[in-house]
Amino acid sequence: MKKVISAALLACLTLGLKAQTDENLGIIPAPVSVERNSGFFTLDKTVVLVSGDPADAATADLLNAYIVTKGGFALRTETTAGQAKRVIVLSSEGADKLPEEGYEILVTANKITLTGKGAGLFYGAQSLMQMMPEKQGAQIAIQASHINDYPRFKYRGMHLDVCRHSFPVSFIKKYIDLMAAYKLNNFHWHLTDDQGWRIEIKKYPKLTSVGSVRNGTIVGHHPGVTNDNKTYKGFYTQDEAKMIVAYAAKKFITVIPEIELPGHASAAIAAYPQLSSFPDRDTFVDAKTPWAGSRKGKQVQQTWGVFEDVFVPSDYTFKFLEDVLDEVIAIFPSKYIHIGGDESPKEYWKESPFCQQLIKEKGLKDEHELQSYFIQRIEKHINSKGRSIIGWDEILEGGLAPNATVMSWRGVEGGIAAAQQNHDVIMTPGSNGLYVDHAQSSSADEPVNIGGMSPYTVAYGYDPIPAVLTADQQKHILGVQANLWTEYVETPEKVEYMVLPRMFALSEIAWSPVARKNLKNFSEDRLPLHLARLEATGTNYWVPVPIGISDKTVEGETINLDLKVPVKGAKIYYTLDGTRPSALSAAYTRPMKIELPKGKKLVLKTVVITAQGKSSVVTDTTLSNGAAVAETKS
Ligand code: ACM
Repeated sequence: MKKVISAALLACLTLGLKAQTDENLGIIPAPVSVERNSGFFTLDKTVVLVSGDPADAATADLLNAYIVTKGGFALRTETTAGQAKRVIVLSSEGADKLPEEGYEILVTANKITLTGKGAGLFYGAQSLMQMMPEKQGAQIAIQASHINDYPRFKYRGMHLDVCRHSFPVSFIKKYIDLMAAYKLNNFHWHLTDDQGWRIEIKKYPKLTSVGSVRNGTIVGHHPGVTNDNKTYKGFYTQDEAKMIVAYAAKKFITVIPEIELPGHASAAIAAYPQLSSFPDRDTFVDAKTPWAGSRKGKQVQQTWGVFEDVFVPSDYTFKFLEDVLDEVIAIFPSKYIHIGGDESPKEYWKESPFCQQLIKEKGLKDEHELQSYFIQRIEKHINSKGRSIIGWDEILEGGLAPNATVMSWRGVEGGIAAAQQNHDVIMTPGSNGLYVDHAQSSSADEPVNIGGMSPYTVAYGYDPIPAVLTADQQKHILGVQANLWTEYVETPEKVEYMVLPRMFALSEIAWSPVARKNLKNFSEDRLPLHLARLEATGTNYWVPVPIGISDKTVEGETINLDLKVPVKGAKIYYTLDGTRPSALSAAYTRPMKIELPKGKKLVLKTVVITAQGKSSVVTDTTLSNGAAVAETKS
């Protein structure tokens, strides 16, 4: 028993020391500047929370609610410090001198001053909450320090596709909560696509009665092994959407709706076939596609991909889209309305006598210019309502609409081209780790996903400012975003699995100055704390593989294994005999040397298992002392 206690104590001491040595005091994203001073502010129930400005009441409540969950006590709130010995003061005094969304935290033995206004104060509270270590007895010791902080980019976004699969309002709120905790400020809500129209439009009720319902869904990776033959349906009412907008606004998050056009329109066309170039033509379904129900008429898609039946650029369609956008604009107060613009095949327009006649009439060169005409017409309408469009980078093809902001997703080239044309840009390149529908490791244990491999380290290493741009052009890079498409993401738990911890890496590249980025500190000092916190609060996440593990062959006679645990409180287990490791296997507790005779090869398999039993994927590392060479020769 004595041994157990001293081991636990040692673990606490080690963790305590670790928390103290973290240059970022446990904060994600890393602040602009952190000065560590000696001593601590002791947070206990005698501390008074001082908040004089009624505008700060919500942030004061947020902080106090967190202290309740963390410490089991609430602080008395006052408008002035009075006689209180130790205080946390929320203040906007001097906040006007801070950069936009910036804040300052000064922690001394008797006082924590949090200075900021609106979003700045809110972000300061987020940082202060992250600085709080676990309670020891009835006290929480907060490091004496001085933090100055503000964002690198004004646009810091997360996207969520609710068309391929949709998620309850309660989960959308949780997603927004997570974003806010990591200082992200734009929620890009992908509301319409081939597999479902998910926002109520009162003037066109069939968009939801027909367009939000599909008769089945393929099972397995595209093209799918079968169809589940289940009705999949759902949409957000306008009231729900407004509620989400209001909820997000309280957390300084803007909700940007996306209404896809002219492509990804199958669900709208199923509801109103006149929106197609060929209203009487059945929806094309590959004969081999596992399909549920009728293949006749216009169908909401049951499979994934890009489909040729796109909006026809007719007066009927423009009237329809303008009506839809008017309702959307009334729900969402955001400056930006995302109009899609990606992956819109031109085959139907090429075949359509109407489209060909329109191309001639308007003096357009080809179907790309017809798409540009389409987008510009929509842009004009949106601009007339005082709003601006964002489109995926395909909107460059055929000429950019005059005021469009470009979202660069097919690599960074679209963003570069748009900035060179003096258009604003949001960077979200799949090639740089920002498509969080990709796998997170090369392990065969990764759940089914769209493909590609984007561990969080790839996003972490990405700088959204392309070096080829001039200083003036670089100013057009408004910010950066990660996208979650949900073909293979059926549940909130899997959304969390795909998004975390990659959202943390996004947060740091969106907020922190490049000079403050430090992958080692991020992975070894801060992620372990944040992931353990997710677990404690019932949020799923991808458990990282052991820090220091290699997925390449390691050569040598003596192989030094120096691994670190990626989640606080987790353990690493391993095998060297080819069997799958589990909590019953050998535990890795300290650096090891593995001696390999000449010509010998072993496979090291590891798994991380967290305190609550959550498991990482199993890794395979080949350890070899000349074995691979010998094998090739024989
Ligand atoms: C996209 O991923 N199709 C924008």
